Amino acid sequence: MTPLQLTAERPLAVIGAMEEEVAPLLAAALDAREEGEGPYRWHRATLDGVPVLLAACGIGKVNAAALTQALLGGGASAVIFTGVAGGVDPGLRVGDLVVAHDALQHDVDVTPLGYEEGQVPGEPPVWAADPGLRDLVAGVAADVAGAEGVRSIVGRVASGDTFVADPKRVADLRRRFGASCAEMEGAAVAQVCARWGVPWAIVRSVSDTADHDAGVDFRAFTEEAARRAVAVVRGTLRRWA
Ligand code: ADE
Repeated sequence: MTPLQLTAERPLAVIGAMEEEVAPLLAAALDAREEGEGPYRWHRATLDGVPVLLAACGIGKVNAAALTQALLGGGASAVIFTGVAGGVDPGLRVGDLVVAHDALQHDVDVTPLGYEEGQVPGEPPVWAADPGLRDLVAGVAADVAGAEGVRSIVGRVASGDTFVADPKRVADLRRRFGASCAEMEGAAVAQVCARWGVPWAIVRSVSDTADHDAGVDFRAFTEEAARRAVAVVRGTLRRWA
């Protein structure tokens, strides 16, 4: 089931953190024109028959939240975040795909005031992805994974303003949060979208396993992993069109 009707006035926003995570989408887009609000820029275009706003937000939760807000102001009616992540689920290998069931901010700690680990006061402990959009993306991710000989899972995205490169932290993210992968933007997008009641989804491809080699693997595998997440986004748009 497609989650909602997209129109030129109410397009889908597709966000990545880094330019290389968005460039393949922009290269395939038709009638792209740049627009923006203040310092925030995006491309309004048609991609695989779907009206979209394409943008790179920069790294980290604040960048992600700010651009998401700007894109909602630009008319976005749903948001998909695409990019790479560090694998936390021990079954994940470089290149595997993670579609968010939900997302949380692992670097938030207000537990002394009675909140759950990762919970922002006034917000739920985790933000759940839109079920229809999640299932659509997950179905495409399963097909892409099958065709390319990798795994895809639906799981928990743990976001924080940290590049995780330590097996102890990975074990911690798994034990404390049940995280599937670690990245630096998704839950911030989720928080803003949830506030506005806008459906969101995240697809991440594993560029590293967040261990001591994470920095090296990230540089080596980001382009390939990002390409796979982009394939999922484009497959999703084709089913949505
Ligand atoms: N994005 C890709 N790999 C990551 C990692 N190890 N930690 C945080 N964000 C990431």
